Amino acid sequence: MMTRIKTAAEIQAMRESGRMLASVLNYLSGLVQPGVTTKYLAENAKQELQRLGGQPSFLGYYDYPDVLCVSVNDEVVHGIPRTDHIVKNGDLVSLDFGVTYRGMITDAAVSQVAGSASGQVQALVTATERALMAGISVIRGPTHIGDIAAAVQAVLDKGRYGIVRDLVGHGVGHALHEEPNIPNYGKKGTGTLLVPGMTVAIEPMATLGRYEIRTDSDGWTIRTKDGSLAAHFEHTVLITEDSAEILTTL
Ligand code: MF3
Ligand code: CO
Repeated sequence: MMTRIKTAAEIQAMRESGRMLASVLNYLSGLVQPGVTTKYLAENAKQELQRLGGQPSFLGYYDYPDVLCVSVNDEVVHGIPRTDHIVKNGDLVSLDFGVTYRGMITDAAVSQVAGSASGQVQALVTATERALMAGISVIRGPTHIGDIAAAVQAVLDKGRYGIVRDLVGHGVGHALHEEPNIPNYGKKGTGTLLVPGMTVAIEPMATLGRYEIRTDSDGWTIRTKDGSLAAHFEHTVLITEDSAEILTTL
């Protein structure tokens, strides 16, 4: 389904959904420390969102079994929270969460290092977030997807990071995944023209090695093939007349 131009009421619901999402991710960031389990993070996400009055979007999505994705080290995305997965000092932890409010969905992700970070891993995290912000900042009203893709790619190429190609950003709002796809590499001026009123999730995934990925036997957890560490940042944004509004922010 192609993403629709959202009505003013739908946009307002997405602003509120996005604010709850940002608030939960912010809260979880403070809990990411050596010794916590990935399941503990998911339980806190569930409880905190309930307190705020939103509903989790991921639980039951294609039978996904939890409210949160927690992807550690070489896990790129869709790590399933587990009571036996304990976060260690120096682990790169990515948290991906979705919130539904008044029927409207927002999607966002952040990455951080638990405890003390090596310079190389911290640089990957910083570059991936900068790539996301670079992609958002080229949106000036109607914008080709290729413009966003090229801006994200430029930041990650400069740091010689691997750019995951088989997973992409997407339209979002009435469904978690709407068309069109938003790749993290491409050429300016190409692809679908995004227009004001559309809402999209932009989500670069970058690695310290190659870009190839594989899926675990659990059917969900996606890892780098070469075992290199991966970072992931994502925001849901609204295309406006002359800019973009980040919806998944406080
Ligand atoms: N943010 C994730 C994505 O865009 C959504 C997680 S899918 C779920 O791919 F199944 F885990 F919910
Ligand atoms: Co997404």
